[in-house]
Amino acid sequence: MSAKKYFITGGAGFIGSNFILFLLRKYRDIRIVNFDNLTYAGNLQNLAAVENDPRYSFYKGNICDTITVGTVLADFRPDYLVNFAAESHVDRSIESPDIFVTSNIQGTQNLLKAALQYGVEKYLQISTDEVYGSLGKTGYFTESTPLKPRSPYSASKAGADLLTQAYFHTFDLPVNITRCSNNYGRFQFPEKLIPLTILHCLQGKKIPVYGDGKNIRDWIHVDDHCSAIDSVLSKGVPGEVYNIGSDNERSNIEIVKSIIRIVGEFRKDPVVSDALIHFVEDRKGHDRRYAIDATKIHKELNWCPSVAFETGLKETIAWYLENPGWLDSIVSKEYLSYYQKVYGMR
Ligand code: NAD
Ligand code: TYD
Repeated sequence: MSAKKYFITGGAGFIGSNFILFLLRKYRDIRIVNFDNLTYAGNLQNLAAVENDPRYSFYKGNICDTITVGTVLADFRPDYLVNFAAESHVDRSIESPDIFVTSNIQGTQNLLKAALQYGVEKYLQISTDEVYGSLGKTGYFTESTPLKPRSPYSASKAGADLLTQAYFHTFDLPVNITRCSNNYGRFQFPEKLIPLTILHCLQGKKIPVYGDGKNIRDWIHVDDHCSAIDSVLSKGVPGEVYNIGSDNERSNIEIVKSIIRIVGEFRKDPVVSDALIHFVEDRKGHDRRYAIDATKIHKELNWCPSVAFETGLKETIAWYLENPGWLDSIVSKEYLSYYQKVYGMR
């Protein structure tokens, strides 16, 4: 059997880079092209360990650019196209929604069209549980929960999901969609709750908690997300959606307090205490609770998560503490001006 070829978009971001490293660890005979336009969230440092690996190459390009996408696909002829590329942060989508529509919807349309033209064994759209909207105190998202996105980010991801399904029904493109819960792990940009809290503990800065801190997210380690994607690529039934989750519901305030406790244990610094917690004005349209029912992927694809939340969180914090250079390089001018814009008024 010849080497499987993966065209991975958004591979310089948090989950995409972890997925590339996962594939290169797991499969010997493999070829990967990472196609990413290196927005503020794209970081080739994440892939420094494999940059000279002959199985891997990087191409700087925008998924909205039809000609470039077509040129690279015509040359590479991948078996799998995995689309991670997206604007991914809810707060940024509230500040500047336009780029979310362009990259997340127009970009997906462009990739679907190219996947059809050049023929792939599987097109995988990496989606999110946020397309289902917000839950009350009870209940879970299943694959048949109606889509009710409530932020510009989740609306743009839902639009992309619908286009992906349309390409399956209309053109027989073999697609899957995965909808995963909140990820955590190494290489996550510190605009998201977990790395932002770690960064602020290290800097002794106030930790902004939105609203009453009781919103709930369902957390999964990025390595478990990667193994689930791998299962869906090889075993997913074309046209099907698979939820991915790890049964770890936590309120935001619980998460923040856990991080403070663990960083405090590592650092023994009296500044790292609950006194850093700062309740700020709530996010507009803030979804209250997400919770994934992942029964379908357990039963049909035999996938199970393997990272216990407490262990995964501790290892993640240890990674950030051991890699201060990674964080320093991110806390750039762009990051500081974004931070001032989103948090300055709160
Ligand atoms: P990220 O923001 O860390 O990375 C996104 C990557 O996409 C970056 O490398 C960026 O440069 C690239 N990109 C953005 N627009 C592009 C464009 N127009 N052309 C080419 N590249 C472009 O995001 P992430 O957290 O790694 O998320 C990856 C995917 O997983 C996204 O589609 C997101 O919606 C989805 N997802 C994320 C989570 C989560 O908790 N982070 C959960 C479920 C699903
Ligand atoms: P986030 O990491 O942005 O992921 P998402 O909004 O996609 O779920 O936020 C996770 C939760 O943490 C969400 O309920 C918003 C909250 N939050 C804060 O309270 N303070 C913060 O500074 C951030 C970034 C998020």
